[in-house]
Amino acid sequence: MHRRRRRLFRPLPLATAAALVAVAAVAVPQLTPGASAATTLRGYADGRGVRIGAAVGDTPLTSDSSYVSVLDREFNSVTAENAMKWDALEPSRGTYNWAAADRLVNHAVAHDQGVRGHTLVWYSQLPSWLKNGNFSASQLNTLLKKHIDTTVGRYRGKVYAWDVVNEAFNEDGSMRGSLWQTELGTGYIANALRWAHAADPAAKLYINDYNIEADNAKSDALYALARQLLAQGVPLHGIGFQSHFVVGQVPASMKANLKRFSDLGLEVSVTELDIRVPLPASAAELARQSADYKLASENCLGVKRCAGVTVWGVSDTYSWVPGTFAGYGAALPYTEHYAAKPAYTGLSNGVNPKA
Ligand code: G3I
Repeated sequence: MHRRRRRLFRPLPLATAAALVAVAAVAVPQLTPGASAATTLRGYADGRGVRIGAAVGDTPLTSDSSYVSVLDREFNSVTAENAMKWDALEPSRGTYNWAAADRLVNHAVAHDQGVRGHTLVWYSQLPSWLKNGNFSASQLNTLLKKHIDTTVGRYRGKVYAWDVVNEAFNEDGSMRGSLWQTELGTGYIANALRWAHAADPAAKLYINDYNIEADNAKSDALYALARQLLAQGVPLHGIGFQSHFVVGQVPASMKANLKRFSDLGLEVSVTELDIRVPLPASAAELARQSADYKLASENCLGVKRCAGVTVWGVSDTYSWVPGTFAGYGAALPYTEHYAAKPAYTGLSNGVNPKA
């Protein structure tokens, strides 16, 4: 147990730490396990050397003290829900806005939380100057490299894992026709991983996607790509399974599917877990949701190279779900008033190895 914990919460090399002090307004992180109570989510996760994370929005982080106290008590990892996306970081060409991303990284350092970086290469949330810039392939290549060098470089030693490439596939397993795919071809994925690795050799580099939790055409295509990248020596270290589920629909093949990626030597992580229920949520649906939280987290944590589970938010107050799926909501472990839901108990039992 101890040996594994040390590997995941490794201290910074001195040289890296010195470089970080020089870089920025943010302090050097100490990713040692927090003095968290054993019965919190992070207490259980610390005990088994894994991450339990939450996606964090800048609004609740800066304005909702109830949210922040639950976040810090329960989670040993955070993901920027939006603040590290390209449109947030570089709204006009060459003009960067690091404020929200720095705030989250600083907060994480101060509360012994690791940071998952999300996300470097995505078809969505691109700034309009980039989306509508009619750049040539060679210009796009240069812009992408600069974005990765700048962003990963800024948080070198402070982000333990990056979602380097997000949502690159269509449901049938073909490559999604994004700006990157269309202009640069599939080679942009290997290039992005190589550039990110050069910018922070210690960060674990992920490909992240949704609807890849089951064994299906999309996960098969990703599996084939992952094998190919590994065979070519490309620095791919993990696969992120977003896991945006509907209650009662955690795929039966999820654990076996994660295991086949783990068997390639890759880390696997659940990166964006939420489980939506029809509104108004009945007691029966909330009980089912609780069982699903347990199952989904165990499906990852029961696999050898599972690095952790992240939920896509803390409370139902700030979830993206009701705005996107009409008639659905209540997808997270806490109510809008920060009462732990049955979903919290399910998640806790999934993370606690003795439950
Ligand atoms: O920042 C602008 C703000 O300036 C503007 O006033 C406001 C008006 O609507 O919009 C703000 O941007 C919104 C942004 O969230 C920040 O709040 C966007 O409209 C909104 O579309 C965006 O939604 C996010 C979505 O990704 C798209 O980036 C959700 O919060 C976020 O939960 C969601 O997260 C994604 C993951 O990154 C990838 N996987 C799926 C997941 C759920 O869609």
